[in-house]
This record gives sequence, structure tokens and C-alpha cells, in this order.
Amino acid sequence: MVRRRCLEQRAKQRVTMATNFRISVAASGVLALCMCVAPLRTPSGTTPNIKHIAMGRCFNYITLVNPGIRSDCEEIWQAFEEAVLGQTSCDVAAERYRRMFRAMPQMGACDRFLLWSKTRMLIQDYTAVARDLWTLEDTLAGYMFNDLVWCGQREDSDFNFGSCPEWSACLHHPVNSLWRQASKIFGEMACGNVTVLLNGSIEKAFNRNSMFGSVELDSLNPLRVRYVNIKVVTNLDGPFIESCTKGSVVDLIHILQARGFRWTCSDNDRILTILQCVRKPDHSACRTRADSQAVK
Ligand SMILES: *[C@@H]1O[C@H](CO)[C@@H](O)[C@H](O)[C@H]1NC(C)=O
Ligand SMILES: *[C@@H]1O[C@H](CO)[C@@H](O)[C@H](O)[C@H]1NC(C)=O
Repeated sequence: MVRRRCLEQRAKQRVTMATNFRISVAASGVLALCMCVAPLRTPSGTTPNIKHIAMGRCFNYITLVNPGIRSDCEEIWQAFEEAVLGQTSCDVAAERYRRMFRAMPQMGACDRFLLWSKTRMLIQDYTAVARDLWTLEDTLAGYMFNDLVWCGQREDSDFNFGSCPEWSACLHHPVNSLWRQASKIFGEMACGNVTVLLNGSIEKAFNRNSMFGSVELDSLNPLRVRYVNIKVVTNLDGPFIESCTKGSVVDLIHILQARGFRWTCSDNDRILTILQCVRKPDHSACRTRADSQAVK
């Protein structure tokens, strides 16, 4: 997911920043002065204007995107602040967001749930075309907080706009915790046929540490889900590392079987190949018969 990738990139920047900062502190020896003269503002802190962005998205969602939903954006924001502010950055357990999620009750139509891992780019194209598919980013919570970063601080009642810890550095990171809770609720909600899109061009297409592998999968209820339809998709240029019969996808199938799910698995779904071809029309995998006739 972009948000995850973004966070990883930011985390890397942050490590560099932190190193530089430590060096500058050691050099000057005057922490307070250093902070005053050159306030530590990095892209790795809480997203600037987070309240306006999140609230704007919330009102957009309940007014235009999904007007059927009854949620109070003010109440959601208050519950969000209550979960995050005044806490040490690594001290926000997923449960702290319970009140917030209670303020955004949601139902998804069965057969439309789409779960995915490491296929972000393609997912954006796929959901733009297959409009009836529903991803976590289509829920109110996912929609509001996609791509945002935040953390609080114990010493201050505001967000920390200067820096936030690496999201994977601690179990109870506020961003990670919100997505874990959102993913859990999303998985529990899933019903009918569920589609799972995995990336066959990487090792561990099915990764037990991913949000899908560690939260969503375990939240799926075999009594509500009719089929888990896995689609393994590779880049047009490969590498062709995993498939329905190779690598970690096989482990996923074993887990599904053991838990009593019915499943199907397909490699290189035609629609997904065509979608990739839209971005690379000249790729050899994208030549159609019409093309070769036109060349004659
Ligand atoms: C698979 O993952 C790689 C590495 O993250 C990424 O560059 C590529 O776009 C992904 N492929 C698909 C089909 O999503
Ligand atoms: C659910 O998935 C199964 C297996 O792929 C398929 O046969 C069936 O038509 C699907 N049903 C719906 C409603 O999509």
C-alpha cells in the first residue's frame, strides 16, 4: 500500500534525520538552543493540516461518496484525538481507537470485498475499473486516514508535527494501530466471495507479517465467507517468483483449507494483465491480434 510504502520511506528519512540530529546535538551540546534556532520540522512528523484533511475527507465521504452512512465527523475526530493525544508515540494500542470506530459503523455489500497485499499500484487501477469492489480504503476510516501520519506526545496535548517514530519500530504505534483495528473490522465484515490480490513478483507474496497476513486473514469468518478467490498477479516483466502452486501462496491455501474456507486461485487474471497493459501498451505481453493485423 502506498501509505505503508510512504511510511517505510519516511521511516528511513527519519533514521537519517535522527542521526544528523544526534550529531548536531553532540556538536553544539545545547539541545534547547538547537531546537529554537532550527525547529525540527521534518516530513516524518504528523501530516501538516491533518485535522482539516481528515475532517474534509470525512464530510466528503458522508455527503458525496457514501451518503447512506450515519456518522458524525466531529465526534469521530474527537474520539481520534482522545486515542492519540497526550500519549507517548509508541503507546497507542489498537483498542484505544474503539470509541472512534464505534462512531463509524459500516456495512459492506457481500461479494465485493477485495483484500490485497503489495499490489498497491494495480489496486488503484483495478478499483477504478471494477467500481463495485470494496477495499479498506473505501471504508470511512480508510478513506479519512489514507496516507496520513500522526503521533502525539506525552508532554504536550497537540500532535507531534516534528517527528514520529518509525511505524514498525513499536507494536503500539498510533498509525499502525489504527490500520490494524481498521483491517480487523474490515476482515470481520467480509462476506460472500472475497477476492485476495497478491503480488507474484516478490518473495512471500503471502506474508504473515503483512496487514493481510497478520490481521485480515485471521479476521475472516468461514461462516460468512463463501469463497476466498485468490488472484496472483506478476509484473509484465516479471520476475515470476510465486504462483498458485509455488511459494508462500501455497501456505495461504493450506491455512484457508485448515480453517474450512472454500477457495480458488488464479494466476495472471486477464483483466489484471489488461490493466497493466494500459500503462505499458507496447509490451510484448500486450500485443493483440488486432495490433498485428494493423501492422500488416
Ligand atoms: C509487486 O511488488 C513490487 C515491489 O514492491 C512492485 O514494484 C510491483 O509494482 C508489484 N507488482 C504488482 C503487480 O503489483
Ligand atoms: C463466488 O466464487 C465462486 C468461485 O470462484 C464462483 O463460482 C461464484 O460464481 C462466485 N459467486 C459470486 C456471487 O460472485
